[in-house]
Amino acid sequence: MAIRTIVQKGDDILTKKCKDITEFDSKLHTLLDDMKDTMFSANGVGLAAPQIGIMRSVAVVLDIDTEQIYELINPKIIESSGENNDIEGCLSIPGVYGYVVRPSFVRVECVDRYGMSQVIVGNDFLARAFNHEIDHLHGKLFDDLVSEFVDIDDLEDA
Ligand code: CO
Repeated sequence: MAIRTIVQKGDDILTKKCKDITEFDSKLHTLLDDMKDTMFSANGVGLAAPQIGIMRSVAVVLDIDTEQIYELINPKIIESSGENNDIEGCLSIPGVYGYVVRPSFVRVECVDRYGMSQVIVGNDFLARAFNHEIDHLHGKLFDDLVSEFVDIDDLEDA
């Protein structure tokens, strides 16, 4: 397990699309474990592989209510509904926060670290975090979606 360096906005890596994972081996498991360590050490609630320079479709998300960690591999949003407008931040854009409208419910199809298919659902905060991280895997950053930037410095980053 290791803490990796987080790529900052301005690096082209963050604007590129990721490739799907095809090998569910120890290399993937190390990547996932390192991503969790890196997320926790940065006090984040989510991290996508391109944020540590790995162009693969992998993300981790921390549910702040249950402290459960979700591992999203090759995730696809297969259903979304509702609307939720709240403040968001990103570990790759330190100090920047703003309101982003996200679906209040999503259903995500992905695979686990052993390659087994799974479907995960998320409401409100979790739906926002899933959307934010899956956007990273498509080279999209949250600040492009902000309707109003806000000046605060004590929120969670993803
Ligand atoms: Co982010």
